[in-house]
Amino acid sequence: MCGIVGFTGSDAALPVLLDGLASLEYRGYDSAGVALQVPGDGLWLRRRSGKLAELTGAVGDAPADATTGIGHTRWATHGRPSERNAHPQTDGSGDLAIVHNGIVENFLELREELEASGHEFRSETDTEVLAHLVADELAEGRSLADAVRSLLHSADGSFAVAVVHADDPGLIVAARRVSPLVAGVADEAAFVASDIPALLPHTREVLVVDDDQVVELRPGSVRITDLDGTELTPELRTITWDVEQAEKGGYEDFMLKEIHEQPAAVRDTLSGRTAPSGELMLDELRLSEDELRAVDKVFLVGCGTSYHAAMVAKYALEHWTRLPCEIDIASEFRYRDPVVDTRTLVVGVSQSGETADTIEAMKYAKRWDARIIAVTNVVDSSMARLADAVLYTHAGPEIGVAATKTHLAQVVALELLALYLAGLRGTRYTSEARDLLAELCEIPSRIETVIGRSDDIHPVAHELVDVRDFFFLGRGVGYPVAMEGALKLKEISYARAEAYPGGEMKHGPIALIEPGTVVVGVATRSHVYAKVLGNISEMRTRGATIVLVANDGDDTAAGLADHVLWVPSTIELFSPAVDTVALQLFAYHLAKERGRDVDKPRNLAKTVTVE
Ligand code: G6P
Repeated sequence: MCGIVGFTGSDAALPVLLDGLASLEYRGYDSAGVALQVPGDGLWLRRRSGKLAELTGAVGDAPADATTGIGHTRWATHGRPSERNAHPQTDGSGDLAIVHNGIVENFLELREELEASGHEFRSETDTEVLAHLVADELAEGRSLADAVRSLLHSADGSFAVAVVHADDPGLIVAARRVSPLVAGVADEAAFVASDIPALLPHTREVLVVDDDQVVELRPGSVRITDLDGTELTPELRTITWDVEQAEKGGYEDFMLKEIHEQPAAVRDTLSGRTAPSGELMLDELRLSEDELRAVDKVFLVGCGTSYHAAMVAKYALEHWTRLPCEIDIASEFRYRDPVVDTRTLVVGVSQSGETADTIEAMKYAKRWDARIIAVTNVVDSSMARLADAVLYTHAGPEIGVAATKTHLAQVVALELLALYLAGLRGTRYTSEARDLLAELCEIPSRIETVIGRSDDIHPVAHELVDVRDFFFLGRGVGYPVAMEGALKLKEISYARAEAYPGGEMKHGPIALIEPGTVVVGVATRSHVYAKVLGNISEMRTRGATIVLVANDGDDTAAGLADHVLWVPSTIELFSPAVDTVALQLFAYHLAKERGRDVDKPRNLAKTVTVE
């Protein structure tokens, strides 16, 4: 996730671009840049690594008479945050600049072709490929709009781009596929941006740009065309939100917005990692195949929600790779003298990549010369630098303190890692892995289905708003789902919620079950489904109110429950990525019913950098 902005008009462009970037900083903030058209003198470009303030402090010499330009605030995906990898990217000629939000899945392939035909690359970004492609089209005599249109034919993946060229004064060409893009028009001016907040100080009339559309902006006009160049009548929307609401995309809170972003987070995390043949490609894994084949034991370490993703992954890793796998709460790992050696693989799981407990656990493993992989959402974070290899989750920045979209992205990234290792070790046939991958690619649409049922989950939360004690039960891979459901509820509603493996209740905690206690069971179909239902019956007999997460059409589960949170089915090991969403929404609605600030729960910090 990144933020892009463009302005063309009769006023100075730079202040409009910097203000726009400031309102888009929530989309990424590891580097920023602008490109301005200087009348009669090409382009002026400035990029800085770090927050937007670094760029703002470095533009004192910008040409004041530039009235057209583009800007970018970055959340790195390909290439670590640095000035070189910041946008705008160019083709090296100094005449063309491009800003980009999204991921070009086939960029390695395209880059090889371009290099073979003599193009020199200066960054590690996928975006630079787009700059060279546009330059090639222009060299063939095409217009800037047609050159940008050609990107929609040659590049795969998700992207929103904006391009300026020295030879086309006053013109910005933008295009979109999947990544968001909006345009606006006012007297003598036109704007384009990743999101509405950047436009609000200038206009409330917004043009929604759809997939595979090209936008030509000139002062006072916006022209939209399709893939074939046919002019379209744009849809005009009047925005009534204020800036803060707009940053939240019209959602009440960042947490709700991020819950809704989960299909995209999962899609982006999967994107570019499967070859057309259906095989896995994990480019960021810098460990050699031999080193990975030599691994005889895996530790997964993390804290909070990341620990729960690690718990899910343990089931998948052991099942698919047949490697022994242990999971540890990171703050416990190094203090218990774990058996780690050069054939051990330690996977640190962390949204931020900065959690002190997990960093220390990884450092401990490093001292024993273990192989180390970081699974994190932040490019070039401390953990990414510490590890031998990194597998990034492409969830974009997460602002709500309670992790949602980064958790699901971790779950699918770790499942990919498990499949990759299984492939290397030969414990799974390629054809089987292909079928699993095909189902993994269906997960975003299953998540969408659950999110679409938010209004059915709300009344359940409403009815249970005053309940004091919740128990969350699951078995097998449903157990970490129960753990995560309980954690979400605790974090944002402050209800007491304990999670147990269903079979363990009878060994003690069942003493706490009485009328009025609520038991939330993860009862989707699995090889332990019948056992879960048995455990739920035991709770019901003792007077508990039962809420079940169950698969669509499961009358047996429904017969045991006072309330059902329905979810679509998927294969058992992927079910956490779907079932968890129902529990996130349950926790969200219950917390809102209790009047809590879900984005900033008391006593919690998003990133904890002390042990
Ligand atoms: C904090 C947050 C949790 C998060 C945990 C681990 O405690 O409040 O929501 O799960 O840190 O964070 P990480 O960035 O390592 O995933």
